Amino acid sequence: MAMEYTNLGSTGLIVSRLCFGTMTFGRSQWKLGGVDQKTADEMVGSVMDSGINFFDTADIYSAGQSEEMLGRALGQKRRDVVIATKVRGRVGPGHNDAGLSRRHIFDAIDGSLRRLGTDYIDLYQVHGWDALTPLEETMAALGDLVVSGRVRYIGFSNYAAWQAALSIGISERLNTARFQSAQMHYSLLCRDIEHEVVPLCLSKGIGILPWSPLSGGFLSGKYRKDTGPVSGTRIGDRGVWFPPFDRELGFRVVDVLKTLGPQTGATPSQVSLAWLLRKPGVTSVIVGARSMEQLKDNLGAVDVKLDEKVFGRLEELTAPKPMYPNWMIANQSQDRLPKE
Ligand SMILES: NC(=O)c1ccc[n+]([C@@H]2O[C@H](COP(=O)([O-])OP(=O)(O)OC[C@H]3O[C@@H](n4cnc5c(N)ncnc54)[C@H](OP(=O)(O)O)[C@@H]3O)[C@@H](O)[C@H]2O)c1
Repeated sequence: MAMEYTNLGSTGLIVSRLCFGTMTFGRSQWKLGGVDQKTADEMVGSVMDSGINFFDTADIYSAGQSEEMLGRALGQKRRDVVIATKVRGRVGPGHNDAGLSRRHIFDAIDGSLRRLGTDYIDLYQVHGWDALTPLEETMAALGDLVVSGRVRYIGFSNYAAWQAALSIGISERLNTARFQSAQMHYSLLCRDIEHEVVPLCLSKGIGILPWSPLSGGFLSGKYRKDTGPVSGTRIGDRGVWFPPFDRELGFRVVDVLKTLGPQTGATPSQVSLAWLLRKPGVTSVIVGARSMEQLKDNLGAVDVKLDEKVFGRLEELTAPKPMYPNWMIANQSQDRLPKE
């Protein structure tokens, strides 16, 4: 297996092109898998053997268990890897136990460091927008964490492009650390970020980290139209189609992915991940798994190279509908292209 590596956005930090997401670690009300410590240890070992050096978690995954289990599984190997975690979600009942205030960010980092058993976080990400806190306060607090050494780099997740652009402008004005990564939902079945977030990331050199790259497991091809989701699968156990997508299109895409098997020598999951790995701006795709078998399947994506024809077919199959003002900008830009 030939893992590839790249810089995280415009930083000097080198990360593997697959990142391992540990949202399935521990038991939570979200019913995401309930991976126990023994399997987590096995997964982390296998992931590291594959060459992955990049791990993603969050303070709210399984109410902190995911961070604890990842920290335990890494043990002495912590120095060999890049750990990304997140802040913003609710971790307690108090008014200040959620959000992106200076107060909560400073409390939350201490909690994450303790649970992970480390004295620094490589990539600290805001998990989503906080409508109650001034952006200046959030960006200054994150910048101070970087200066203090508790955090190396910062990133955003689930922001609209305008929110991320405003944040970057503020960091530049304050002369503090700015966002280097964008952890966003991105898959063959949800390409919404291609409208605004991807262009922003390309223009500012921000690394995109797609989450739920298999649309919660749907793109593995294991769901059937006739029977509906069965128990023992995420969608079946939870009774929720999350992240949401157009199901008609979803089943059509899965059919195509299955027919591509003989041509690509790859499973539907591997083709879906390999497609993302070719997309502009994507630094590292965050893969998730409930079992070793799924993990092995997904890790195999690094050996799949989609040729132009297959890539083009997938591009066309799920192309996002042109959105205004983007189509007008594209029209008007036709006479603003550099002469050959
Ligand atoms: N920033 C955010 O807001 C956010 C949100 C979500 C996720 N994330 C991050 O992204 C990571 C990945 O997200 P995700 O877990 O939703 O990714 P995903 O790849 O879309 O879904 C993973 C799930 O799909 C099923 N699956 C995966 N590979 C499979 C395979 N080869 N064959 C059959 N089934 C397979 C498993 O669920 P079952 O076996 O239970 O069906 C697995 O837990 C998370 O761990 C987390 O780090 C971030």
